[in-house]
Amino acid sequence: MLIPFLNLIFNSEKMMASSLQTVPFSLFNLKEFIAVNFNNNIIRYIQGSSSVEYGKSKALLFICIFTVVVFFIKNIFRYLAVHFLAPMRTGVASNIRQQLYDKVLQLHVLYFSDNRKGDILTRLTNDVQEVEYGILHFLEVAFKEPVTILATLVTMLILSPKLTVFVLVILPVSGYIIGRIGKTLKQASTVAQHLQGLINSMVDETISGIRVIKSFTAEGALSNKFKAINQQHNKIGTGMIRKRDLSTPLSEFLGITVVVIVLYIGGRMIIHHTSPLSAEAFIAFIVIFSQIIQPAKAFSNAFYFIQKGLASLRRIEELMQAQNKISDKANIDPVHVFEKSIELKAISFSYQDAPVLRNISLTIPKGKKVALVGMSGSGKSTLIQLLMRFFEVQQGDILLDGKSIKDISQQHLRELMALVTQQTTLFNDTVANNIAFFKSANKEQIIEAAMLAHADEFIARMPEGYNTNIGDNGIKLSGGEQQRLTIARAIFKDAPILILDEATSHLDSNSEKLVQDALQNLLKNKTAIIIAHRLSTVQFADEIVVLKDGTIVEQGTHQELIYLQGEYKKLVDLQQL
Ligand SMILES: Nc1ncnc2c1ncn2[C@@H]1O[C@H](COP(=O)(O)OP(=O)(O)O)[C@@H](O)[C@H]1O
Ligand SMILES: [Mg+2]
Repeated sequence: MLIPFLNLIFNSEKMMASSLQTVPFSLFNLKEFIAVNFNNNIIRYIQGSSSVEYGKSKALLFICIFTVVVFFIKNIFRYLAVHFLAPMRTGVASNIRQQLYDKVLQLHVLYFSDNRKGDILTRLTNDVQEVEYGILHFLEVAFKEPVTILATLVTMLILSPKLTVFVLVILPVSGYIIGRIGKTLKQASTVAQHLQGLINSMVDETISGIRVIKSFTAEGALSNKFKAINQQHNKIGTGMIRKRDLSTPLSEFLGITVVVIVLYIGGRMIIHHTSPLSAEAFIAFIVIFSQIIQPAKAFSNAFYFIQKGLASLRRIEELMQAQNKISDKANIDPVHVFEKSIELKAISFSYQDAPVLRNISLTIPKGKKVALVGMSGSGKSTLIQLLMRFFEVQQGDILLDGKSIKDISQQHLRELMALVTQQTTLFNDTVANNIAFFKSANKEQIIEAAMLAHADEFIARMPEGYNTNIGDNGIKLSGGEQQRLTIARAIFKDAPILILDEATSHLDSNSEKLVQDALQNLLKNKTAIIIAHRLSTVQFADEIVVLKDGTIVEQGTHQELIYLQGEYKKLVDLQQL
């Protein structure tokens, strides 16, 4: 459209002298077809008008309107393109996020003692976002811009092959320069995301520990620790932004340098008449060439984003490919009932090198209550986690009704057990959802469980009863109330095997009385493994097992062990002081 426009302004005599031509429509001479028809229109306007000036301005208006229409159509399609790409972009990001979340749910529990919570959080949030921005933006550019660039290059080739060759030689050089800077951006981005993880960890710890922090007046110290990480993050962030922002001035400068070189070479060709290139075609060439700079710039920008995105993608992949050390065997029979006994057969276990449990053998018949006692660090909690198969024993085996727990799916195994720990885990949700653990249940079952757990009284006093939100980890409840809620949850689950890990240790004697009562309700007709710090609470047990340094040193009823005058007696005496 530019060439006829220039022709019309500067060369109208030539136009008027020419006559109408016809070119048959075909894909191979599409360019001819369009050009001839376009020219024919202009010639018709000029020749059919009363005066040349009048005809020329009519033709001018035609060109202008045509241009507006063409650009209108172009931009409608451009909008449609992004419109249909949008769900793909966000869809990919939300797919990755879901996969990561499911992965986190399935990961081995020890993964979380080796990795920072904040770092995992960052991978799920910021890193996914970086991938969305970087890689998907790149994909968008990678599909769209090459078409533009190719079309532009073809047009340039048609106009002047000689000049196009110059362009093709110079452009890759600028591409290389831009690429060099992009490389360093990727390393910086990995460090930045790691620091972001540290920041998230610290904020998370600070929020959940805010009371302790204030009571130790540690605000200043924490603020300084945070400042150190934050400043480092800031420094790297500044560097990255500077590098990224270098791409625009750099590519513009390189672009204009190329344009000037083309101008010089093309200008000389026209001055010395060494090329068939007409002046209009030359100007059109320059204008079209300047069109290539925009997509080229988009390309180099996308290149920067993709470096950041790749760094994040690697971090996401790391989490996705984390080994789940415990996996179910294929084709195993389902297990839904517990009938006879749990047997530990000479098991040994260590977290790192030092053994935590050594050669432990123990049988727990169905319906019996077994207490595990011993100093802290003797391996009691480890033992019950092995039972639930959070970790796997390194030697020996654990049998449930004579079947190795390795031959039972983790889900079936854990469905047979209910766990109450000293550390209450509650969710920022309603009382009812915390008791039913998001399972659909009728109100009566929930209330019944709460009543047996002596939780009903305080729940009734809450503003919205069972629909009251209890805050992060049940922060709006007292320690005893939190504990009774977790017991209600275990009662609701109604599993045949109960595991209590110091479930009453941090309660005052009044709440403890209620919780003990609740526990008695919970223990009725169940098989139980009870870890208790306060020995008075386990005297009723059918068997008391004393652990010391990871081995069983004594085993028997309360009376028998007192009579033995050994470790158990020592522990009892210590508590009576
Ligand atoms: N995640 C872990 N990683 C490494 N060592 C651990 C881990 N958990 C516990 N331990 C170690 O295992 C030993 C037994 O811990 P634990 O079973 O919790 O004892 P208890 O419950 O009897 O107080 C302790 O010495 C403790 O340091
Ligand atoms: Mg413990």
